[in-house]
Amino acid sequence: MTIDALYDGLNYQDFYIGKVTQVYRSNCIAQIDNLSLMSDRSKFNPSFLPNTINNYVLVESTLGIFLGEIYENKASRKNIFEISSGDVDVKSNDYQEVCIDTIALMPNGASKFQLAGFNTLGITDKVYLATDSAYKLFLASLEFCGDDEEPLPPFATYLNKSKAEVSLKPSTLFNRHLMCIGATNSGKSTTALAILDKVVSTKRKALIIDPTGEYRNAFSDDEITKLTLGVDTTVAPGKISMEQWEKLFETENSSQGAVLSEAITSLRYMRKIGSDTCYYKVGEDIEEIQEKIASVGKDDVDFDISRLPEQIQLESVCEPDRDSNYNFKYRYDTLKANMNASLVQKIQYQMTNTKFLTFFSDNPDMYNLLDVIDEFVRLPDASLYIDTSTLGASEGIGGMIIDLVSTFVMSKKEVCPFVFFIDEVHRYAKSRYSDKDYHGGLTLLAREGRKKGIFLYLTTQNPKDVSPILFGQIGTLLIHRLMLNDEIRAVESHLDDYAIKHVRKLNQGEVILTSVNLLHNMFIHVNKSPRTQYNVTPTL
Ligand SMILES: Nc1ncnc2c1ncn2[C@@H]1O[C@H](COP(=O)(O)OP(=O)(O)OP(=O)(O)O)[C@@H](O)[C@H]1O
Ligand SMILES: [Mg+2]
Repeated sequence: MTIDALYDGLNYQDFYIGKVTQVYRSNCIAQIDNLSLMSDRSKFNPSFLPNTINNYVLVESTLGIFLGEIYENKASRKNIFEISSGDVDVKSNDYQEVCIDTIALMPNGASKFQLAGFNTLGITDKVYLATDSAYKLFLASLEFCGDDEEPLPPFATYLNKSKAEVSLKPSTLFNRHLMCIGATNSGKSTTALAILDKVVSTKRKALIIDPTGEYRNAFSDDEITKLTLGVDTTVAPGKISMEQWEKLFETENSSQGAVLSEAITSLRYMRKIGSDTCYYKVGEDIEEIQEKIASVGKDDVDFDISRLPEQIQLESVCEPDRDSNYNFKYRYDTLKANMNASLVQKIQYQMTNTKFLTFFSDNPDMYNLLDVIDEFVRLPDASLYIDTSTLGASEGIGGMIIDLVSTFVMSKKEVCPFVFFIDEVHRYAKSRYSDKDYHGGLTLLAREGRKKGIFLYLTTQNPKDVSPILFGQIGTLLIHRLMLNDEIRAVESHLDDYAIKHVRKLNQGEVILTSVNLLHNMFIHVNKSPRTQYNVTPTL
């Protein structure tokens, strides 16, 4: 494309402002020739402010046409009023300079911009003010992937003066997983709903896990299947792996993990023999008990979870001292009992939430969580919403559900591609009790899910709360306002100097979008979706 074509219908000479006079590795400086153009703005669109920075210019060079951004604008006149008074009678030693950062290049013969790379401007190259349409052409060249893909309807506008609508292809946002970061109240959930709205309303698939219930009325029942755990949805305890139980009850060390496992096996044995009591071991013959426990097969998975605290107490047994009486019966062990006390208390506390017990009741009259997910992954345009807020806010339960769902969807062979949205993923970060990483299933999904068509969309307040492996898999970030140095440091590698300076200054709903799928960072303002969302901060 020639420079003439870029000013479609206009005389490009009208936009000429000056020539490049200095070229550096990281920037260029141009001297303004056409001061009358710089001072008289009446001819231009009001979005154009030539006396300041962040304007765009086009530079005609031998390599092609560069798109540059003005980041410094300086006049050397002693008396600044001469410029504003429109006095164009310039004295020879007075001049105005602009510093230009080259962002993109349209090589000769091409019709799209690409990254400028190592290409630089040359001295005496001519500089023209860019029009909004040239900038929009640049925006249209920003996306690398999904050439034949239909973009999502616009969910935001650009923050620069062109105020163009942001309409991105789903693969730009999601194909290397998306993470939204920002301080509390910065607008992460609002942004999430604005994007999910476009995903769901264009019949793309989404699986939404909502730990606070704030999206419960955002979508209609026709658009999405809604599940509320412990209210209309249950799961069979037998489907939960031992590791997931440990996560759920946040076991503090391996001995608590072991006793939890023993107690569950004992209850599985009781279910197998058709009894609903606990298994009393004190005074019983050791060999006999071990034989019975060993008979629990891999199909005998169900048990009565409400008996778990009591059963853990009953597991506080040990072998007696060997003496000449050949007494091989279990005796009560106070030491073990004390060690298990905190675990028992934790489980008892969880069970005070009646929804918790209902969730694990495997009630056949309710939805079965895993069956619904199984159906969801196979249907081409279905979406699913899971409200986990009813089960309480503990990290254990949330982490366990994420792990359960992640490993379950990963085990499926045929998956219709979907966006897996988890709000406030920092809730499922490392446990307070152990230093184990709490993202086993999620990390697996981040690593392998893309090949199956499972794309993560996570939001978090602090990127440090997610495991470095998971964070390393994220290719696209929506960055809201961040205030703390260590949070900014965590996203530093995704941003350039300009963006880093602005992270603290973003208003509610303003976002820096940075992605491996984009040519350049985007500064956007997300348009709040009209759908219902329960996130208003009450006033005192
Ligand atoms: N783009 C926007 N336009 C208008 N209002 C917005 C926008 N983004 C956020 N807000 C307002 O800001 C408030 C907080 O937004 P939101 O709940 O999305 O923040 P958050 O980052 O998710 O906070 P938290 O971390 O506490 O969940 C809401 O009242 C919301 O209406
Ligand atoms: Mg939120």
